Amino acid sequence: MCGIIGYVGTRDVVPVLIGGLKKLEYRGYDSAGIAVVNGQGVEVVRAEGKLNNLEAKLSDKPLKGTFGMGHTRWATHGKPNENNAHPHRDCTGQVVVIHNGIIENFLPLKQQLQQAGHEFKTETDTEVVAHLIEEKLKGGAKFVDAVKKTLKELEGHYALVMIDGTEPGTIVAAKHGPPLVIGLGENENIIASDVAPLLAYTRNIIYLEDGEYAVANQKSVKVFDQNDRAVERPPKKIMWDAVMAEKEGYRHYMLKEIHEQPRAVRDTFNGRMFEESGEIYFNDLEFSPEEWSKFERVHIVACGTSWHAGLVGKFLLEEAARIPIEVDYGSEYRYRNPIVDEHTLVIGVTQSGETADTIAGMQEAKAKGAKLITICNVIGAAATRMSDGVIYTNAGPEIGVASTKAFTTQLTALYLLSLYIRQLRGEDREDLRYAMHEMRVLPHKLETILKKERQIEDLAHRYYKSQDFLFLGRGVHYPIALEGALKLKEISYIHAEGYPAGEMKHGPIALIDENMPVVAIATHTPVYDKVMSNLQEAKARDGKLILICDEGDEAAKKMADDVIEIPWTIEPLQPILAVVPTQLLAYHIALRRGCDVDQPRNLAKSVTVE
Ligand code: AGP
Repeated sequence: MCGIIGYVGTRDVVPVLIGGLKKLEYRGYDSAGIAVVNGQGVEVVRAEGKLNNLEAKLSDKPLKGTFGMGHTRWATHGKPNENNAHPHRDCTGQVVVIHNGIIENFLPLKQQLQQAGHEFKTETDTEVVAHLIEEKLKGGAKFVDAVKKTLKELEGHYALVMIDGTEPGTIVAAKHGPPLVIGLGENENIIASDVAPLLAYTRNIIYLEDGEYAVANQKSVKVFDQNDRAVERPPKKIMWDAVMAEKEGYRHYMLKEIHEQPRAVRDTFNGRMFEESGEIYFNDLEFSPEEWSKFERVHIVACGTSWHAGLVGKFLLEEAARIPIEVDYGSEYRYRNPIVDEHTLVIGVTQSGETADTIAGMQEAKAKGAKLITICNVIGAAATRMSDGVIYTNAGPEIGVASTKAFTTQLTALYLLSLYIRQLRGEDREDLRYAMHEMRVLPHKLETILKKERQIEDLAHRYYKSQDFLFLGRGVHYPIALEGALKLKEISYIHAEGYPAGEMKHGPIALIDENMPVVAIATHTPVYDKVMSNLQEAKARDGKLILICDEGDEAAKKMADDVIEIPWTIEPLQPILAVVPTQLLAYHIALRRGCDVDQPRNLAKSVTVE
């Protein structure tokens, strides 16, 4: 995610932009920039790193004007440096663009524009938009028409704010995926990624819908649909305070991030899955079939929630690669003198890319000659800098200490990697297309589950006083049992254990009585019948059964005290769906117990020490 803002009015625009970017910084903070249009034309100042680096530059080179835009970046394409920082411009320097999202077809568009003589200065997908508008302007179109024509050529997800220095006072904004809201002020209008930056100026807000674009100047804002028909959109009165606004109205970052998962998963597979050709493409990872065939084993090294993702990865990658896949805690791996050589591929899974134990494990493997891949959510993080290849999870900043969207995007990245391996091993493209389609439709299924939050909240209110929980799962769902238990214990401080369902009879069943809620994932996998008989054992001891099962599973409904039904999907993708009810259950139990959900006691978001 990135934070974008545009302003046209009578105020000194730089404080408006900087103040707004500060309220958007939680959306991304690896670089920032602003553009101001005044009598001197378009002036752009950008800086790598935190927003205060940009402020320092602006104090040396103050910009003056009442019309401009600003951007704080969470890089997806192109390293987080000054050159790739937004705003981006066309060859003339007059067309200026800021962007949140991913332009999926930027590569072919960039090649066409380069053949037409356009000089590109950055590695970003965004720069393509500025040059496309320039191309339309050259053809005689007015600025707004040039933008309309450009939007029709873009594929992917984008929130865009665009201006033309030769037509000062007009801002065009377009939305297709990521959010864009417009604040209607007195003799001023302000556009941003979310409400937070607007509240200092107005509470009258218009939300753009997908496919719409808006043309704003000092006096008016006009909204149009994708067929260029005017849209009447009465403003909403927003009564949030600024802090609530940064959470977009959610009570906690964790809840916001749980609800962001459909977008985060989509942003992780977008630009990497191409159903037409049946191909998987990673822009920061490449193996030839020969290079891949030399690997004899894979080690996945991670901690905490990321280690649970690695356990799911074992199932996905062993099925695809048919070589041994080991999964180990970083803190264990680094000291057990692992058997590693040049035929070993080590995959570090880490949201922050800074976890000391994971990095140490990767360093140990590198020293022994292994090839390294990192699955990471922070571009340029330490783990990525030491790796031969990276798969970024485009989840956007995860602020809540309890990891949620990072986990489901890690599973998405591992799934894409398993398809990539199948592609390298020459698997039939038709099978790969089917596997891609199931991923493509997964965000809608996540939305379906999120709509059950109220039901899960009621469940939480019935069980929040329990002193112990048991989470059970089997096969691909065993890691989800572990993850559900970790989520609950780390934010509600209730003792919770995750166990393979088949292991119950080897000890844990002694724990079960009427005070022990048992949360089990019982969707239709090849071991479904085994899981159901394991659960019968729990039931026979008066355990309280909460089942996460397929929609319409009458047997599960009959056996359980409570069921949370989730949509069907193929087995490799079921963990991404099944984990969401456990996230919401943990959240609402912790909330009911009055715990600090976003900053649980004793924990840190990234454990950068041993
Ligand atoms: C998960 O909710 C925790 N915050 C923690 O287990 C976390 O997953 C672990 O510390 C690993 O962090 P990383 O993904 O940034 O490496």
